[in-house]
Amino acid sequence: MSGNMSEKTPEKMPDNVAANIVRICAQSEIAPDSVKAFEVGDRQLAVFNIGGRFYATDDECTHASASLADGMLDGEVIECAMHMGAFHVPTGEVKAPPCAVALRTYKVILEGNDVVVDLDRNAAGELA
Ligand code: FES
Repeated sequence: MSGNMSEKTPEKMPDNVAANIVRICAQSEIAPDSVKAFEVGDRQLAVFNIGGRFYATDDECTHASASLADGMLDGEVIECAMHMGAFHVPTGEVKAPPCAVALRTYKVILEGNDVVVDLDRNAAGELA
């Protein structure tokens, strides 16, 4: 009955877009070749500065519940302080037992001086 066709543009936001991208810290908060833990919502992340490249992983060791930020960083490998298991930081791959399950990685985006993490993607940029 009405010729009044209002052109409503539905606000369609695709799922997974920008939903879980969070600023973690300033790059300067993590000294070169060191790691620091940050609470992000209900997760605890370990953020690494390895030779000026930044990486983020879960902070909790997959073997038990030790904080990897308390471990020893040797190049690209983080050794857990609890039982000396180890992971390759850029990929999360296990490098030493007793760890058997890979470490969850997160995609890091550098924005200006900030370290920003996409909680929905792994370091390779895949949805995870
Ligand atoms: S808790 Fe990390 S190696 Fe056991």
